[in-house]
Amino acid sequence: MTVRVPAKVNLQLSVGPPRDDGYHDLVNVFHAVSLFDEVTASRPEKDEITVEVGGGFAGQVPVDGENLAARAAVALAARAGRSPAVRLRIHKTIPVAGGMAGGSADAAAALVACDRLWGLGTPREELMEIAAGIGSDVPFALLGGTAVGTGRGENLTPVPAAGRYHWVFALAEGGLSTPKVYAECDRIREATGEPAAWPERSEPLMAALAAGDVKALGATLVNDLQPAAVMLCRPLARTLAAGRERGALGALVSGSGPTCAFLAESAAHADDLSVALNLAGVCRTTVTADGPAPGATVTSEE
Ligand code: C5P
Repeated sequence: MTVRVPAKVNLQLSVGPPRDDGYHDLVNVFHAVSLFDEVTASRPEKDEITVEVGGGFAGQVPVDGENLAARAAVALAARAGRSPAVRLRIHKTIPVAGGMAGGSADAAAALVACDRLWGLGTPREELMEIAAGIGSDVPFALLGGTAVGTGRGENLTPVPAAGRYHWVFALAEGGLSTPKVYAECDRIREATGEPAAWPERSEPLMAALAAGDVKALGATLVNDLQPAAVMLCRPLARTLAAGRERGALGALVSGSGPTCAFLAESAAHADDLSVALNLAGVCRTTVTADGPAPGATVTSEE
């Protein structure tokens, strides 16, 4: 059972004050892009979970119980009252610890793959609930498309979005820890005496999406975690500036970073921008992708 699952970029990430449970209330406009991991679930030789990882970022992914796909399989099996025995093979294309929800994507894919392999037929809402228990971004990887997440990002409402959007992603050396970036965001706010506002959905951004207006969308992209990510990884300031100088319609850190996302006018413009960013030497490498992309989808039942 093979499931393909997309990466995401955040079009709006507005972060409220820290909550008592350590999370932050968000308005998180997720947008799935055509950069996919694949998770294959098959019957194991022994009664245990095994995880194998292949693809470009394989060396950076844990293969023990910390792996989010393994945790998803365990959570689903527990809910169904069965053994979590499964062989999971993950083919990674989504950058690891890059702010594109790659680990969350693998968890969502594992939920769908194991549900099919084990013949559970778990209702969609229940899968979404299990997904939210694994991580704030996991439910969106099931859903795909474009959606607004509230709460810690797990309460999702699909957003009607017209048109296709072409992106360049500039990958950095190394990753950033999501909890550290949120903590840095809180620290900066405390230090500057700028209290966090209650996060609100950006209506100009919604209007841009509804109209399929790529220029307006570029002008409304916003990420409250960006100053924190740049503080923890200073070279990102140069990466963002380089993209803007080379004609990106919008430039922002993706999620908690360090991947930077640039909105292009067209697929051809994205290719040009990608080459220009590589030549400028402001990132490790670039990838292009477009969105919206569908959520976790079964691609092979073999
Ligand atoms: O939910 P998830 O495990 O992906 O979150 C990782 C970390 O990111 C949390 O432990 C927390 O530090 C931070 N986070 C947050 N507020 C959110 C989502 C994540 O503070 N809404």
